[in-house]
Amino acid sequence: MPALPRIVRRITGPACSGLVSNLAEILAVGEAMERALALLDGGYVVAIPTETVYGLAADATNGVAVARIFEAKGRPRFNPLIAHVADLAMASRIAEFHPLSTKLAEAFWPGPLTLVLPQRAQNGIHPLVTAGLDTIALRIPRGFGGELIARLGRPLAAPSANSSGRISATTAEAVAADLGEKIKLVVDGGATPVGLESTIVKIEDGRLRLLRPGGIAAEEIEAVAGAELMRGGGGIEAPGMLASHYAPGASVRLNAKKIAGGEALLAFGRDRAEGWQDAVALRNLSEGGDLREAATNLFAYMQALDRSGAATIAVEPIPHEGLGEAINDRLARAAAPRDKIA
Ligand code: TXA
Ligand code: MG
Repeated sequence: MPALPRIVRRITGPACSGLVSNLAEILAVGEAMERALALLDGGYVVAIPTETVYGLAADATNGVAVARIFEAKGRPRFNPLIAHVADLAMASRIAEFHPLSTKLAEAFWPGPLTLVLPQRAQNGIHPLVTAGLDTIALRIPRGFGGELIARLGRPLAAPSANSSGRISATTAEAVAADLGEKIKLVVDGGATPVGLESTIVKIEDGRLRLLRPGGIAAEEIEAVAGAELMRGGGGIEAPGMLASHYAPGASVRLNAKKIAGGEALLAFGRDRAEGWQDAVALRNLSEGGDLREAATNLFAYMQALDRSGAATIAVEPIPHEGLGEAINDRLARAAAPRDKIA
């Protein structure tokens, strides 16, 4: 397993111009706003922190800018992107809201819920964002992203900031290690608090369909909606739905009750799988068995275990309730046969 590329902060200014490299500049949220705005305005992509995972953002109204997202990620063109907005007013200019969508937006925005809604005509969104669909995925992110969009005055298209098919990045360092040679700026907001991508819900004929489990548990959404989420069906609308996705370099073995020598172990809770002492590396998603904490740690720990060089990451069983649904979904995709990577 090769070491991660060393990340060099770009040092600018006349005295150090000889050190300028083609690696992304990393700026803390407190000092990044003007630079991020200038790049986005110029049609470039910028990696930004959101409460879920880091996003690779571009002006959603600028086709060239959006194309740069697909280029940097190596993403299949048919995968539509989430448009991130600053507030409900901006969202309503882009998509049609009915009472149920408004209720969910008011309950969960800003936050890790993405709503797939009918698009309004002439909404300014470049068709590359939606891959030509007549629906659009929208959400309001918490923190720096929300402020950035408000300042820009235009929505930002942003997939997770990782090469297509790889684990989503939850730190600026992970973004820079993966995409640092392809983008100009990573805004560093520290580790993302939720650690899993947003939950995606499609609203069709007043009914709700769960397209991707994520940072808000399905049960919480059902409680607000007063109705059950439909699951399955709907085809491959979210590529998070491609069988192999979120793949680390090592292969992944689920529901491990016994560890073979040479394996790395992704543990959960207090009880260890048999033979755990032989694991070449071990990370515990949550000693106390807390699924929210586990979600936060999932991608970073998978990356850490991948870096251990083990050929296989064995994963202890994780309960299916609450955020466990999203965690198990990501793990199942990480474990899927690699020839299914789109
Ligand atoms: O938390 C998140 O959702 C992060 C942060 C950056 O916001 N974003 C993210 O984006 O995970 P991405 O591109 O990795 O996943 C977006 C998902 C994809 O699975 C895509 O297929 C689905 O949203 N999607 C986008 N537009 C859609 C649409 N109109 N209908 C159905 N699915 C859609
Ligand atoms: Mg993604």
